[in-house]
Amino acid sequence: MTLRNAATDLPATDATPPADAAGRFSLDACRLVDLPKIHDPRGNLTFIEGGVHVPFDIARVYYLYDVPGGAERGGHAHRALHQLIVAMSGSFDVVLDDGRAQRTVHLNRSYVGLFVCPMIWRELTNFSSGSVCMVLASNRYDEADYYRDYAAFRADVR
Ligand code: TYD
Repeated sequence: MTLRNAATDLPATDATPPADAAGRFSLDACRLVDLPKIHDPRGNLTFIEGGVHVPFDIARVYYLYDVPGGAERGGHAHRALHQLIVAMSGSFDVVLDDGRAQRTVHLNRSYVGLFVCPMIWRELTNFSSGSVCMVLASNRYDEADYYRDYAAFRADVR
């Protein structure tokens, strides 16, 4: 049985393999990851280790910041990239779409990450003022890994 996070209906464990027997990725493989949190009166500390808290080696880190009100980011899918998305500050929504279903995940904790497997279209919306979106990625930047056209993505995931 896969445990689910009550707030988002996303699996809350890493029990779901990223792809099914046919090699097809789905929303079920996208899940919330509870990151370690070291409580301290001087300020809390969270850490993320590749292959431990995320199911991939971390090759790249990037972050979105100074996002103007009403702006949207994302609007693409990746062929092979695995990512963990963390709201380091503030909050935003991540709309996930595997070509068959959609799910919206609200991120607002710096100790909770959203694991996104390959072949998932994502839109990032509703950024709060001053929010920072950090993304850990399994590979270096490669434009050839992107689907930037939704129709092309849909055609390939059918
Ligand atoms: P993009 O991935 O489209 O941003 P978003 O996550 O909002 O969809 O990237 C925006 C631009 O930044 C694009 O020209 C590619 C460039 N970029 C890099 O050069 N390196 C990176 O690691 C990333 C994520 C983007």
